[in-house]
Amino acid sequence: MKEVLRAELETLRSQGLYRTRRVMSSAQGREVVIDGKTVLNFCSNDYLGLAADARLVSAAGESLGRSGFGSGASRLICGDFETHRLLEAELARWKGTEAALVFSCGYMANTGTISALADRETVVFSDRLNHASIVDGIILSRAELRRYPHNDVAALEGMLSSTGEDRRKLVVTDTVFSMDGDVAPLRELVALCRKYGAWLMVDEAHAFGVMGPTGAGLAEALGVAGDVDVQMGTLSKAAGSFGAYVAGSKELVDHLVNRARSFVYTTAIPPSVAAAGLAALGVMRAEPERRQRVLSLATKLRQGLAGLGCDTLNSTTPIIPVMVKDAERAVRLSGKLFELGILAQAIRPPTVPSGSARLRVTVTAAHTEEDLVRCLEAFREALSRC
Ligand SMILES: Cc1ncc(COP(=O)(O)O)c(C=O)c1O
Repeated sequence: MKEVLRAELETLRSQGLYRTRRVMSSAQGREVVIDGKTVLNFCSNDYLGLAADARLVSAAGESLGRSGFGSGASRLICGDFETHRLLEAELARWKGTEAALVFSCGYMANTGTISALADRETVVFSDRLNHASIVDGIILSRAELRRYPHNDVAALEGMLSSTGEDRRKLVVTDTVFSMDGDVAPLRELVALCRKYGAWLMVDEAHAFGVMGPTGAGLAEALGVAGDVDVQMGTLSKAAGSFGAYVAGSKELVDHLVNRARSFVYTTAIPPSVAAAGLAALGVMRAEPERRQRVLSLATKLRQGLAGLGCDTLNSTTPIIPVMVKDAERAVRLSGKLFELGILAQAIRPPTVPSGSARLRVTVTAAHTEEDLVRCLEAFREALSRC
C-alpha cells in the first residue's frame, strides 16, 4: 500500500497538485500567525470578522459552564439541547421560513438533504461549478445527475424540457460560487423551476450574512426567497462559527429529521457551538455595517487587482479569484505573497476545473484600507517576479 500511495503522491507533486498543511498559532482574524510568521489574512471565509469576536466566545463559554462540552449522542437519541432549538427558531425567523434544521456542517447539510430528497427516479440538475458537497450529495442519492454549464439558464431549460414529466426534478445551485465569487441567476432559475415543476435548492454558504437587505442571502437580495423550496446555508463563514442549516417548510424539516442520514446518524453539535452560532446571528442582525463594509472593501480590492491586470472573472462578492491558470505558477505566486506577508491560497484542480488554477482572495469586514494597500503592493511585486 505504502508504495502505491507514494507513487500517486509523486504524480500529484509532478503536476503541481500536491497539497500541504500549515499551522496557525493565533486566533482567526485579519492578521494571523501561520508557521510562525505574522501575515495579513486574505483567504478566510470569516467575512464579517466574527470568528474571534468576544461575544461569540463568551456565549460559548457560558454554555460550556451550563451544559458541558460533549452532546453525548445524536439529537434523536438523547434529545435536542434547548440551544439547538433556539438557534433553529432564530434561523427560521430570519429566513422567513416555517422551520429550520441545524446540521453539524455544510458538507453534511448538503449530502444529507440532497440524498433525502432525491432517489433513483429523480433527476438532479446541478450547476457545473457547484460545491463538492452538492456533487457528493447527488452521488449518494443515486439520482441521475445532469450538470448544466455554469449559470447557463438556456442550457438548463433545454435539459428540463427534455426530461419526462413523471420524473422528480431537483435543481441545485450555489448562490455565491465559492471559487469564482459570482452569483447565480436566481430569478431565472425560480421561473424555470416553476415552469417545469422542479424543486429548487440553493446553497447560501457564502451569501448568508453578506447579501440581501437583512443579510439573509442572495434569495432575499433578489426578492425570491419565498419561491425557493430548500434554503441551505452555513454558520461557518460570515457567522464566524460552525454548523449549517436548512430552512424551508415544516414538512421539509420533518422529512429531513426522518430521512437525512447525516442528521440522524451523527452526534449533535455541542451546545456551546450552537450558542456561539446564536450569538453570531444576534451580532449580524444588530450590526449591518459589517456587511456594508465587507462589500465595499471587496469592490476596492477587486478594482485594485484589475488595475494590476488581474482577471477576476465575474466576481461581485468578497470572493475575488485572481486567475493564473497554471497550477505550479499559482503555488509559486502564493509562496511569494506569503514571503511578502500576505496569505492568499492557490486553488488548483480538482477544486477548480483543469487549467483554471487561481489565487482565491477574500476580504473581511475586519480588514483596513491600509491592509488592502499592502495586499495590492505585494501582488504587484509577486506578479512581476513569478
Ligand atoms: C458553497 C459551499 N457549500 C458548502 C460548504 C461546506 O460547508 P462547511 O464548511 O460548513 O462544511 C462550503 C465550504 O466549506 C461551501 O463553499
